[in-house]
Amino acid sequence: MSDRVYIFDTTLRDGEQVPGCRLDTKEKVEVAKKLEEMGVDIIEAGFPVSSPGDFSSVQEISKAVTWPTVCALTRAVESDIKIAAEALHFAKHPRIHTGIGTSPYHIKYKFNSTPEEILERAIGCVSFAKKFVEDVQFYAEDAGRTPNEYLARVVEAVIKAGATVINIPDTTGYCLPSEFGEKIKYLMEHVDGIDKVTIATHCHNDLGMATANTISGLINGARQAEVTINGIGERAGNTSLEEVVMIMKSHRELNLDTNINTRKIARTSRMVSSMMNMPVQPNKAIVGRNAFAHSSGIHQDGVLKNRESYEIIDPKDVGINENAIVLTARSGRAALKHRLESLGVKMTKEELDACYEQFLKLADKKREVVDEDVLMLAGKHRAASHRIKLEWLQVSAGVGIKPVASICLDIAGEKFEACATGNGPVDAAINAIKKIISRKMLVQEFLIQAFDKGSNDVGKVHITVECDGVFHNGFAANSDIVAASAEAFLDAVNKIPY
Ligand code: KIV
Ligand code: ZN
Repeated sequence: MSDRVYIFDTTLRDGEQVPGCRLDTKEKVEVAKKLEEMGVDIIEAGFPVSSPGDFSSVQEISKAVTWPTVCALTRAVESDIKIAAEALHFAKHPRIHTGIGTSPYHIKYKFNSTPEEILERAIGCVSFAKKFVEDVQFYAEDAGRTPNEYLARVVEAVIKAGATVINIPDTTGYCLPSEFGEKIKYLMEHVDGIDKVTIATHCHNDLGMATANTISGLINGARQAEVTINGIGERAGNTSLEEVVMIMKSHRELNLDTNINTRKIARTSRMVSSMMNMPVQPNKAIVGRNAFAHSSGIHQDGVLKNRESYEIIDPKDVGINENAIVLTARSGRAALKHRLESLGVKMTKEELDACYEQFLKLADKKREVVDEDVLMLAGKHRAASHRIKLEWLQVSAGVGIKPVASICLDIAGEKFEACATGNGPVDAAINAIKKIISRKMLVQEFLIQAFDKGSNDVGKVHITVECDGVFHNGFAANSDIVAASAEAFLDAVNKIPY
């Protein structure tokens, strides 16, 4: 009989802390519903005191999901905790996640305090949170660099104060897997009352060891893994949900099990990637475009003879190639609607009609319309609500001539035209847009990726635009990469407050 590991997803809190990955409340609710559908046990919905947007996201997610626990983050500050409790008012299973830094670095430099004072504050925040909810999770920030003896004292004290879950974050991603496992083991063996609570791992990936550390923690007694979809998160990111879940599924000898429906992994990954404008690296384990692609002849031959010769996971188990219905120019509205719904996109009849029209245009250009294309079309439908829209774009470029772009933008119903040159067609198109929108906008990042293969493929463009010191991410996909670039630029520009 396997032991149950609870999956705590913090895509919408720690993951969303990445500059440029911000989602609005509606988008966060969409992601939360997808996480619920996939079987996530606890959804960390935000840090309510940090902004009105975070407060409303926690509130709306609390209303929208049914069985998962909804969790809100706080510092060890009473006003944070009160506001978190308010935001969680509608949650069926609310949890407050409060805590404080416990490493010498945090105690000395962040708080200019002493270990004894921090211990008192830790007890204080848990006791205060208990006045509002039964389920209180405590985090010992930078536990990875906290000496085990002191960490054990803090953990024992907060358990006595009523904490139900103890989170041991490796905040800086510093620990070695053996060291992190030892830490959990030490707590399991030295803390009174540890058997009454759940120990959680929360590992960052600064040295590429987040997944290894999480698994080491689970092997040594932790029963909650804190993760994000695609491993997104600040700096090098958090532990990725898909890796941890698939390790448990593949290594049955660990006797660890989760509630995750792994067949929903690929879709959730794509949805989060496209909504957060965060491309997944092609060789990313489990969800990367190449994760199951065998290009060498020897591998292809081996896989064809027996999949297990070179594949340890059946791609179907993570929801890849699951769709038997192939979408082509002959597919009807119902097939498109079915595929959109299976990808978590719901549309009204009018929206579906508009999307279907776009679909037919794309299907005319492509032999087969794949899931990524469908998500791209759904994204176009989101772009339809932009204040600044691309009306038309004409670019002339080639060898031996200077690229020129003419563009027409629709800004809140009014049409504006401009023409510009550039060092390439994309540069020319962006310069033309800048002539119409006279703000100081700098392209800080620009990435073009193919969805699939072949020269008829759709290109995805991710762009980061800086305006007044704030970064705005944009995304677009189009079979014309210059158009995709202009649309991605406009997607970012639409996020700039005017
Ligand atoms: O990395 C970390 O320590 C955190 C805590 C706030 C849980 O994200
Ligand atoms: Zn973190």
